[in-house]
Amino acid sequence: MQSLRQCASRQAMLVGKQNARLAPHRSPIVLARVPSAKAGEAKAAPADAVALNELMEVAILAAEKGAEVVREALDRPRSISFKGATDLVTETDKASEDAVLAVLRKHYPRHALLGEEGGVSGDTDSSYLWCVDPLDGTTNFAHSYPAFAVSVGVVRGVTPVAGCVVEFTGGPHAWATRTFAAHTGRPTTCNGKPVRVSQVSDVRRSLLVTGFGYEHDEAWAANMELFKEFTDVCQGVRRLGAAAVDLCHLSMGVVDGYWEYRLKPWDMAAGIVIAQEAGATITTMDGRPFSVFERSMLASNTLLHQQIMDKTDPKTRGLLAANVDLSPWFVPPGYDTSRR
Ligand code: IPD
Ligand code: CA
Ligand code: CA
Repeated sequence: MQSLRQCASRQAMLVGKQNARLAPHRSPIVLARVPSAKAGEAKAAPADAVALNELMEVAILAAEKGAEVVREALDRPRSISFKGATDLVTETDKASEDAVLAVLRKHYPRHALLGEEGGVSGDTDSSYLWCVDPLDGTTNFAHSYPAFAVSVGVVRGVTPVAGCVVEFTGGPHAWATRTFAAHTGRPTTCNGKPVRVSQVSDVRRSLLVTGFGYEHDEAWAANMELFKEFTDVCQGVRRLGAAAVDLCHLSMGVVDGYWEYRLKPWDMAAGIVIAQEAGATITTMDGRPFSVFERSMLASNTLLHQQIMDKTDPKTRGLLAANVDLSPWFVPPGYDTSRR
């Protein structure tokens, strides 16, 4: 098994290759897609393709296993350690990841796995990369503050194709969960019922959400400025503290747009396919096609995408002009990002 540090240190090599593939082009706004499972579609599925529905069902099984671990820990004292100055990890993060990965390994012993806590394992020659955040919103969990979640997504090439997020809602004495699931070509569901993004078309009537990573760098500072700018023009900007949950909230129309710098593949994989299949548009913050390895993400109800990008694009270009590194990251060594 490879640690994330090793994985990150191999990025320079892979990033050059990937930059060429992801060279800036400004239109159209699209998320790279894999062939869907719809009947009658002209393109044949790739020979190694696993049925999308099966991938989603396994994502649900795995996320529910992780959620069981989290559920059992809710009323117990937290065992917390620090990964960075403000970056927490609990024993529950690790136990949840073990539970999730056991399910994935049982069903797909030859797929590649990327877990937040344990790094890369499995076969990186595989066409499929599972991205697992065993507890998204760890700081919230540590304080018993909603919201947090278990997030399990599977990516082909750079594109999430199926995923499940189990969100913990409520709070002490009133915890509950709801389960979001999707795969490409199938409408997103929450607890089995279809959900859809909002119809808000004017940013002045929108409720937006963003997030701030643990590294307080130039991108973090730029986003503080964006936070101010959007707070000035919309009905509110929330900072909930769990990226997977933010994307699920977009999918069900309780927020209208979400952006963040420096999310990792495990923060986004499941939430992206969940939001996309509910009608969201997803790009980088400067409008390039989304990849799960990108370091900026803008997701909206589609109607607001350009209005939000009118602010995030110049800010992101400013960072690039100042040589801030926004190139793809956390690509497992050997993993082929060009698969469709
Ligand atoms: C964090 C949360 C947070 C986001 C950070 C993530 P973690 O994940 O998703 O909302 O702003 O960028 O790192 O550490 O709680 O799994
Ligand atoms: Ca996370
Ligand atoms: Ca986490």
